[in-house]
Amino acid sequence: MTHEFDAVIVGGGGAGLYAALEASKSAKTAVLSKLYPMRSHTGAAQGGIGAALGNVEPDSPEWHAFDTVKGGDYLTDQDAATILAEEAVHAVYDLENRGLPFSRTPDGKIDQRRFGGHTRNFGDGPVRRSCYAADRTGHMILQTLYQQCIKNEVHFFDEYHVVDVLLEGARCAGVVALELRTGELHTFRAKAVLFATGGFGRMFRITSNSYASTGDGPAVLARRGIPLEDMEFFQFHPTGIRGMGILITEAVRGEGGVLRNRTGERFMERYAPTLLDLAPRDMVSRAIMTEITGGMGMRGDRRIDDWVLLDATHLGREVVQTKLPEISSFSRTYLGIDPVEKAIPVQPTAHYGMGGIPTDLHGRVLCDERGKVVEGLYAAGECACVSVHGANRLGTNSLVDLVVFGRRAGLHIEEYVKGSDPVALPKGADGPARAEIERLMDGKKGPHGGQLREEMEVAMMERVGVYRSEKEMVGAIETLRSLRARYQEVRVQDRSRGFNTDLLETLELGNLLDLAYTTATAANNRKESRGAHAREDFPERDDANWLKHSLAWLEGDGVRIGYKPVSITKWQPKPRAY
Ligand code: FUM
Repeated sequence: MTHEFDAVIVGGGGAGLYAALEASKSAKTAVLSKLYPMRSHTGAAQGGIGAALGNVEPDSPEWHAFDTVKGGDYLTDQDAATILAEEAVHAVYDLENRGLPFSRTPDGKIDQRRFGGHTRNFGDGPVRRSCYAADRTGHMILQTLYQQCIKNEVHFFDEYHVVDVLLEGARCAGVVALELRTGELHTFRAKAVLFATGGFGRMFRITSNSYASTGDGPAVLARRGIPLEDMEFFQFHPTGIRGMGILITEAVRGEGGVLRNRTGERFMERYAPTLLDLAPRDMVSRAIMTEITGGMGMRGDRRIDDWVLLDATHLGREVVQTKLPEISSFSRTYLGIDPVEKAIPVQPTAHYGMGGIPTDLHGRVLCDERGKVVEGLYAAGECACVSVHGANRLGTNSLVDLVVFGRRAGLHIEEYVKGSDPVALPKGADGPARAEIERLMDGKKGPHGGQLREEMEVAMMERVGVYRSEKEMVGAIETLRSLRARYQEVRVQDRSRGFNTDLLETLELGNLLDLAYTTATAANNRKESRGAHAREDFPERDDANWLKHSLAWLEGDGVRIGYKPVSITKWQPKPRAY
């Protein structure tokens, strides 16, 4: 079946919905979403959205931009960071005007709290910048944007999984998607396509990411020759529930919670004397791993799956129940503890890919080192890399990224489609996708994807995790190369058409394997430590050789690496101290 739209948005999370909202002001717009949009992973963002409103203490967008650059270990493109910080203020008020129920100060303003790496006056001390709706901020953003999209008559195709992008030379013609309810393939012809498919944390064993975070957008584009940028930078959030990875928001520390080792010591005093537990995530995750491997985790046996404690017992029931209700409920449900009475066992959890599909400041996808644009092709949100997070994203900046760059892409799309004609679709546009699905379902004997998935997750967690070394990463690359070869033999066992989750998970596995392979290869290639990329064999940041973005092209059995410069407009790189 073929559908025709001006704009097709792939992904129903915050970036996709904001883009759809803007594009649909005049363009006939569709959103394809693998899930019902309200279940998108944006809904898991808890602690807030950063914007220098200055509601509870002085703040400025310039300080926010600086923190974003410094937090990103100077790999952040400074023009992007400036836009992010300036437009964040408008974005938050826009969401408020559209009905988002932010938590309030006693005098009725949007309340703000502390988050890691957010400072006043270029690093003098912590600042309250995170605007929040209790600890359900992402969920509220989704609700607000979805309602507005319905009002704008956006066409929703829920439970459609993207399987291919249609590129004609340097122009996008549309996408192919699998309708999960029927198992049918649909072709969407569009003047503009935006990918907003979210993250790919499911390549790791312990992750805060939802089951759906399988990198469908970046993988589909990578297989069609689009490079991926800065894939070596993957953030571990310091506080995932031990053994499960489920997020315990940084807002716990923003409200005054502290991390403790097996002796009860507040160990962050030794690692970040100024910002303490609210240092950027890369530093806190490394500190936790250093405690654990030094025998100071709760078990004390130096194994990397040991844990530390997040102590919120001194905050009192009132604060926990009003400002952190979700955390309170998670702790009861998954751990059987009340965080007002007992500290929460936590360990670093794979949380956020700083890298992804390279874009310019309008969300247009770039396909080479010189910034060549693919006409009609856009990306925004976690699957994209507008290079605003550099080597390490600050907490709350993911929601800002979604709304600021999702909105910018939507605005650009609205104008672009007015002046362009759709591209003719090639005959049999869905042929390659159909052939791959038929192979997976042909009934021949082959390994099941589940085994491969487990091997991938362990290789990534143990060998491309918080700390990295050439020896371990080469091992991971070998494992992933062999898993990609074995994937060619994989077959699904369930051959029914409707809601075939066996097929869906196998397609997702193919995406994850391609992205894991790219991530491990890009990580082994970068011979320095910067932000979330911490190498034991190259422990220093090396600006002379590595102050540059990487681009990775997935080419058959290999990955080709290129580079492009970082945009430095205001702040020269300095050593990071907190
Ligand atoms: O800790 C958190 O609430 C996560 C926020 C974020 O990743 O920005």
